[in-house]
Amino acid sequence: MPASYSKKPAVAVVGGGVCGLGIAWRLAAAGCEVDVFDRAEVGTPASPAASWAAAGMLAAQAEYEPGEDGLLGLCRESQRRWPAFVRDLEAAGGAIGYRDEGTLVVALTRDDTTRLHHEAERQRAHGLEIQSLSGAEARHLEPWLAPAVQAALRYPGDHQVDNRMVVPALVRALAAAGGRLHQNAAITRIDTVGGTARSVQTSHGRHPADVVVLAAGAWSNQIDGVPERDRPPVRPVKGQMLAIRMNPAAPLLNHVVWAPGVYLVPRRDGRLVIGATVEERGFEPGTTAGGMLGLLHAAWRALPGIQELAILDSWWGFRPGSPDDAPLLGPSSVANLLVATGHHRNGILLLPVTVDAICSLILDGTLPGFAVPFHPARFGDAPCRTSTSMASAGH
Ligand code: GLY
Repeated sequence: MPASYSKKPAVAVVGGGVCGLGIAWRLAAAGCEVDVFDRAEVGTPASPAASWAAAGMLAAQAEYEPGEDGLLGLCRESQRRWPAFVRDLEAAGGAIGYRDEGTLVVALTRDDTTRLHHEAERQRAHGLEIQSLSGAEARHLEPWLAPAVQAALRYPGDHQVDNRMVVPALVRALAAAGGRLHQNAAITRIDTVGGTARSVQTSHGRHPADVVVLAAGAWSNQIDGVPERDRPPVRPVKGQMLAIRMNPAAPLLNHVVWAPGVYLVPRRDGRLVIGATVEERGFEPGTTAGGMLGLLHAAWRALPGIQELAILDSWWGFRPGSPDDAPLLGPSSVANLLVATGHHRNGILLLPVTVDAICSLILDGTLPGFAVPFHPARFGDAPCRTSTSMASAGH
C-alpha cells in the first residue's frame, strides 16, 4: 500500500468485464472498499464486450504473431498463473470450465504444412513446447478431423476456460469478498481535481474514490474528464462468432483446434464455439452472411462432421485493440487513475497478469517487472512511472 494511505484505498472500477471484475475481486479480498460500474448487465449480450463474446482460449502459442516476442512473454507469464487463478476463483465463485487438453493447429494443404513447419521452428527457437504430428497422428487424437488434414502441431500448454462461466464466477467471488457491482450504471465522467482522480460520475450519481481503474475494454477512450493524452488509444476490433450443438456425450472434438481461417473450441456442455472474424468496422453491430459463411466453410473443411449439426447461436463482440496489439497496464499521468485495457485478442488469457499488475500497483505501489513494458505511457508523453505516486484521498 502506498505510504500516503493510512488505510486501504477505496477503489472505483470502470467496466465489469473479466479484468475489471478480477481486479475488484482481489482488491476486495485484500480489504479494499471496491465498487465496479458497468453500463449494462455484465456477462450478457446486452453489452457486446469481449468478455462475453470471447472464445476463452488461453492460447499464448496459437496467438503468437511474428514480431510479438514481448507480448509472448506476458502471455506465457499469464498462462503460468492460470492454474492457480482457476483454483482460487473456483473456490470463491464456482466452476469456470477450465480444460487442459491443449490445442491443435492443423494443415489442410501442402502450403499449410510448409507454414506449420516454419511455425514449429519459430516456436522451438523460443523454447516453446510443441509436438509435430502427421495427419494420421492428429486424427488419432481427434478422429473427426477431415481426411485432408496432412499435419498438425500440438501445443500442450494452450488451454481454455469458458468465459461465460468466468464472468458470473467473478461476480459471485466479488460479492463474497464484500465488493459491490453496479450494473446498468454508465460512467459518464471521471472527475479530477488538481491532476488527481477523485470520483466517478455515473448515471446513478457521483461516487468518490481514492483510486479509479479504467477497464472499459473497447470503450475505454470514451469517458469524459480523462485528459486527451491519457485516453487509452484503443479501438474496437470486431469479431463475429457462432456456436454449434454437439452431443456432449460424443463430442466431435476435445482439443481446441485451429485450422486455416477459423478456430473451434469445444465446451463440456456440447457447444462448439467457432470464431472469429477480425474486422475494422468501428462499433458496427450485427453478424453478416459473409462472416458466417467464411467461418462455417473454414470449420467444415477441417471438421466435416459439423454438416448435420444444429446452429445454436451467433454473435459479435468488440476486442479492445491497441496500436501494438498489446495491453495497457498501469498508471496514467492523472494521479490515482490506473489503466487496464487494450488486450485485443488476449483478454481472457491475460486476466491473471492484469489482476496481479494492477493490484500490486494499488496495494504495494509498484508495477511488477513483467508489466513494465506494457506501461500506458509507451504511446504518449505521459510520465512513465512504474510505481504509483498516489495522492492522498481526502474525500
Ligand atoms: N482470441 C480469439 C480472438 O480474438 O478471436
